[in-house]
Amino acid sequence: MLNAAVVGLGWWGQTIVRMLEGSGKIRLARVMTRSAAGTQFAKARGLAVATDYEQLLADKTVEAVILCTPHTTHLRLVLAAAQKGKHVFCEKPLALSLADAKAEIAACNAANVVLGVGHERRFEPGILELRRRVEKGELGKILQMEATFSQDKFFTIAPDNWRFSPTEAPAGPLTATGIHMLDLAISFFGPAEKVVAGSRNLMGAFANGDTLALLLMFKSGVQALIGALLATPFDGRFALYGRKAWADLRDLSHPDAPSSSTLTLCREGGGRETMEFKGSSAVRDNLEAFAEAALGIRPYPITQQEMISNIAALEAAFKSAASGEVEKVAA
Ligand SMILES: NC(=O)c1ccc[n+]([C@@H]2O[C@H](COP(=O)([O-])OP(=O)(O)OC[C@H]3O[C@@H](n4cnc5c(N)ncnc54)[C@H](O)[C@@H]3O)[C@@H](O)[C@H]2O)c1
Repeated sequence: MLNAAVVGLGWWGQTIVRMLEGSGKIRLARVMTRSAAGTQFAKARGLAVATDYEQLLADKTVEAVILCTPHTTHLRLVLAAAQKGKHVFCEKPLALSLADAKAEIAACNAANVVLGVGHERRFEPGILELRRRVEKGELGKILQMEATFSQDKFFTIAPDNWRFSPTEAPAGPLTATGIHMLDLAISFFGPAEKVVAGSRNLMGAFANGDTLALLLMFKSGVQALIGALLATPFDGRFALYGRKAWADLRDLSHPDAPSSSTLTLCREGGGRETMEFKGSSAVRDNLEAFAEAALGIRPYPITQQEMISNIAALEAAFKSAASGEVEKVAA
């Protein structure tokens, strides 16, 4: 069992606490929150509450922190945790710049602690099944990826919330949802080479934008088209087009309340196969994979190179959304 503390008890911190209930690999030793709602949530579950991060890190019973705080805090909180010898699971994005991501990884490696990141989409049963099929060669040579992760949950959030700040969340939907699809693209195709991003504020409700289109070009020649909207009902779609088959995975609900997903494979000649996956424990599975790595059982499946490639592409996409140009992804 890994003794961990969740830091930040807003939407996602509370989701993670709920998802970890009954985990056989992570025990929540404490939580850190300063908000009244977070404190009430923690107390209702009998979780000890810290209000100071340094005090939390000084607690020897806490072996790992799970950071669920706004994006601009990630660098400081990751570095401080690593310096105190704590394993760190950081919610996405790991950082807002490539330099910051590299600094976080270097600090964790120097302290010999494990770094995890909140890209649970990788652990969804449909994605795991699709990856198996791709690795077996069922799709043939992959030519293109098309994906969407869209939702309209943020209309209930106050307009002055950090999520709508161009500093906290440049290119609007990119750090909210688009980044998960970026992670999946990198997990299938490796580092991206060039990016072009169009970010629009079509509804006028979110200062940093509500509608994002992203085209990524990979070194192998494969391209990935990603859509991310914050002003349309939920849609989760991940599709790969191969020479021998295409596959289309549809999620029926957001990962905060997984219901079911459907994977359709269409082979040369038109033969179709459809698989349904009920529910998903992807958020918990990601955290438990992090715990297993921290406990020395097996390596964390999201590699540090993939974390770097993700933030390198993110940084290039921020640049492209601002410039309107195709931007190169730094190595
Ligand atoms: N993996 C996913 O699918 C997923 C989904 C939603 C959010 N997230 C990520 O989770 C993180 C938090 O998002 P959220 O939607 O829960 O935001 P939120 O605003 O609902 O909650 C953030 C919480 O952090 C607290 N906080 C702010 N600064 C802090 C600090 N320095 N120390 C401790 N607590 C602090 C706030 O009081 C708030 O309670 C973000 O990185 C976001 O991108 C991930």
